[in-house]
Amino acid sequence: MGSHRFAGRIAVVTGAASGLGRVTAEGLAREGAKVVLFDRDGAGLAETATSCPGAVAVQGDITSADDQARLATATQALGPVTLLATSAGMLGPTVPLTETTEADWDRLFEVNVKGTWLTLRAILPLMRAAGGGAVVTFASAAGLTGSPALPAYSASKAAVVMMSRSLARAEAPNAIRVNCVCPGSIETPMLELTFASAGSPEARAAREAEFRARHPLGRFGKAEEVGAAVLFLLSDEAAFMTGVSLPIDGGRLA
Ligand SMILES: NC(=O)c1ccc[n+]([C@@H]2O[C@H](COP(=O)([O-])OP(=O)(O)OC[C@H]3O[C@@H](n4cnc5c(N)ncnc54)[C@H](O)[C@@H]3O)[C@@H](O)[C@H]2O)c1
Repeated sequence: MGSHRFAGRIAVVTGAASGLGRVTAEGLAREGAKVVLFDRDGAGLAETATSCPGAVAVQGDITSADDQARLATATQALGPVTLLATSAGMLGPTVPLTETTEADWDRLFEVNVKGTWLTLRAILPLMRAAGGGAVVTFASAAGLTGSPALPAYSASKAAVVMMSRSLARAEAPNAIRVNCVCPGSIETPMLELTFASAGSPEARAAREAEFRARHPLGRFGKAEEVGAAVLFLLSDEAAFMTGVSLPIDGGRLA
């Protein structure tokens, strides 16, 4: 038997159809939580649900207040929610700031910043009513250090860092801890998309080598390595940790 840190708890995970959200949801379910899976990708959600016994899937867009209201209603129907992980996010094009289009800038901030905020706005009142809990938001190493190839993404993730730290201070009296993970390059569909968009095989190989070289441990991270840190931050083992922006980045920010 493995550990059962979340037995009887109710958890919400956004971005649960893929990558880091999926491993977070699977880990929570494995350790006893009933998980509400939220994502706009219905097929991916259904796949995640098969490995999360007792999970409830809600399909929707994090940038829609109406969809977030549906998420809150479905969550409330299960009972008191005490755990939240907001993994849904996007990367956007790998271009310099001066070549970033207004549409790309707006969409990045809409998804990464407004979407995260709308999720927090929808679920935090339920957590307060439940008497407290723990939140993990998903920023990025690029939210803690400048990222020349992804300047708009970097700015959006810095916003997530400060939103999380502000919330940690605001929600402490409500017994809600708020921490934030800041992954380096992790092997998920999102990273694959970055490499695939490089163009030629040579350009792809060069981009992969460049990204790998940023990590002193000399490799990309695995989704499970981020999931383990998220589960720790959500668990009572991290009971005295709030307001932390935790790099999980193979030493990139060392
Ligand atoms: N993979 C990495 O290298 C890496 C590094 C740093 C930070 N992150 C962050 O971690 C989080 C998860 O990334 P991932 O690698 O698992 O990506 P992913 O692309 O594999 O998964 C992201 C999920 O979010 C969902 N999503 C995107 N926009 C949405 C929207 N508007 N509404 C609802 N769902 C939406 C997608 O459908 C997808 O299922 C993101 O916030 C990302 O920015 C990832």
